[in-house]
Amino acid sequence: MRSVPPTSVLSDAQRQKQNARPDRDFYRQPRLVQHVDERFRTRLTALYRERLRPGDDVLDLMSSWVSHLPDDLRLGRVVGHGMNEDELVANDRLSNQFVQDLNQTQRLPLNADAFDAVLCAVSVQYLQYPESVFAEVARVLRPGGQVIVSFSNRMFAEKAIRAWREKGTGQGRLRLVAQYLEATGAFAPPETIHENPHVPPTQRFLGGAPDPFYAVCARAATGDAA
Ligand SMILES: C[S@@+](CC[C@H](N)C(=O)[O-])C[C@H]1O[C@@H](n2cnc3c(N)ncnc32)[C@H](O)[C@@H]1O
Repeated sequence: MRSVPPTSVLSDAQRQKQNARPDRDFYRQPRLVQHVDERFRTRLTALYRERLRPGDDVLDLMSSWVSHLPDDLRLGRVVGHGMNEDELVANDRLSNQFVQDLNQTQRLPLNADAFDAVLCAVSVQYLQYPESVFAEVARVLRPGGQVIVSFSNRMFAEKAIRAWREKGTGQGRLRLVAQYLEATGAFAPPETIHENPHVPPTQRFLGGAPDPFYAVCARAATGDAA
């Protein structure tokens, strides 16, 4: 099943961004900031603690200076990918890293069957060719390896693809990410997670509403049946 080319989920129009200038220009300056609130980050770290095993080889796709991994989880190799070298060098969880614009080149410079897990945190909305990227994710995962894609409502709207902006709701976006994985024909049926923490308005102070937590998780098929 792994050699089947992905089917298209998105039309050409749905892949467009408001800011069509090259992504490398947008990410030229390092952003050593957090992109989601502490509650979201704590939930993501808990999910990683629940799903990852000591010694796992991990690819953190679309990473930066943080990977949200549990501090006390001893992993194998943790390869980081992103758009800004300085951000990746500042990430102390990475064994090594590489920069690649996935909207230019989807093929990953990584061996097949090299990872137990591929993580993609709060970034999937920027992919213009997600079907091909997730086919590559499937290629580099070992059979039975897992992909964990997380996201919230926040984004650089000008750099998110039209399909993402137009979905509007988290449920629609969960379905969209699941479709990306299904289009590869290389994953078992995806699991979706949605948690919208309730914080009474009186406790929100100046922070506003908390960031809802969404994740799509799937295992790479182990045999011919995806
Ligand atoms: C909001 S940041 C999230 C970074 C990190 N995963 C985190 O949790 O803080 C979005 C990331 O998406 C990645 N990204 C955006 N456009 C990309 C592109 N065209 N190709 C590859 N990666 C891209 C960059 O690594 C950027 O740091």
